[in-house]
Amino acid sequence: MRYGDLTAVDGVSFTMARGEVFGFLGPNGAGKTTTISMLTTLARPTSGEAWISNHSVTKAPNAVRREIGIVFQDSTLDTKLTVEENLDFHARIYGLTNRAQRRRRIAKMLKLSELTDRRKTLAAKLSGGMRRRLEIVRALLHRPNVLFLDEPTLGLDVQNRRRIWEYLINTAANDGTTIFVTTHQLEEAEQFHRVGIIDQGKLVACDTPAALRASLGGSLLKLRCAEPEEAARRIMSSTGLLPTVNGNTLSLVVDSPGEFLAEELGKLGGLVKQVEVVEPKLEEVFLSLTGHGLRDAEVTGGGAWREVHQAQAKKVGR
Ligand SMILES: Nc1ncnc2c1ncn2[C@@H]1O[C@H](COP(=O)(O)OP(=O)(O)OP(=O)(O)O)[C@@H](O)[C@H]1O
Ligand SMILES: [Mg+2]
Repeated sequence: MRYGDLTAVDGVSFTMARGEVFGFLGPNGAGKTTTISMLTTLARPTSGEAWISNHSVTKAPNAVRREIGIVFQDSTLDTKLTVEENLDFHARIYGLTNRAQRRRRIAKMLKLSELTDRRKTLAAKLSGGMRRRLEIVRALLHRPNVLFLDEPTLGLDVQNRRRIWEYLINTAANDGTTIFVTTHQLEEAEQFHRVGIIDQGKLVACDTPAALRASLGGSLLKLRCAEPEEAARRIMSSTGLLPTVNGNTLSLVVDSPGEFLAEELGKLGGLVKQVEVVEPKLEEVFLSLTGHGLRDAEVTGGGAWREVHQAQAKKVGR
């Protein structure tokens, strides 16, 4: 997908199975929303094609629209309507004309989103978490085969996030709904069936979280250091490995943590204060594939380190 000179989504290709929860991860501006817009027929791709339940997004957009539900990145609730009215309006648009059926379905959705006692509340007066829950059940009201959600848990507290994921994962399992979801939260993506990683418009990896973690081929070593940048420099010159600096902790993926420590700890003098070996998470996968963190400031030391990481990622052909 091109916007003028910018190629926002570049040759991205993947499939989703029925009932699968597919997570799309990428930093700001990576092309996540653009991908959703194309798959939901809101933006026509400048080239390429996609199919939802065998319907082409470019040739049969109306058929595609009947298959899908969407939760947009920014809220699209009508804040002047009540919770129940928002659902009722949506149900009518989607052709649930039988009043009794519509009521039953709405009652079910209210119960699922734990908003039954709020049904007469104006959407404007709901909390952020409640609004998100309402939007999700609204998108499911007409029983879509594929549900698209763009950052559904952004800005929500842990409890609300957990509730939403639990609910979405159950919906996929019980109703066979296929779920495509974008998120910035790498720890949330661990529970998805598969994850696509998009960076600068390109899909750099697409697999199960376990396979992605295994692809790093090693353990993650975390070293709490007195002078982290100095320790990182020494490790780099001694081993060629480039640690990530985050506060006073260095992280690096090594094949054998035992051997690494036996050989390197002495060279680091008293710089290392604490050692921890952990299984790599998607965060490290992301860093290794793209050369930068999903939320840069949090993951890498920034500036110079980021550049070296990117150079290293390029060198290994990623
Ligand atoms: N309508 C548009 N016209 C021109 N450029 C656009 C348009 N929509 C998006 N872009 C550009 O395309 C690129 C991808 O944007 P997109 O919104 O898809 O990213 P994103 O991954 O959803 O980011 P975020 O995490 O910030 O929501 C960005 O560089 C953005 O500026
Ligand atoms: Mg977006």
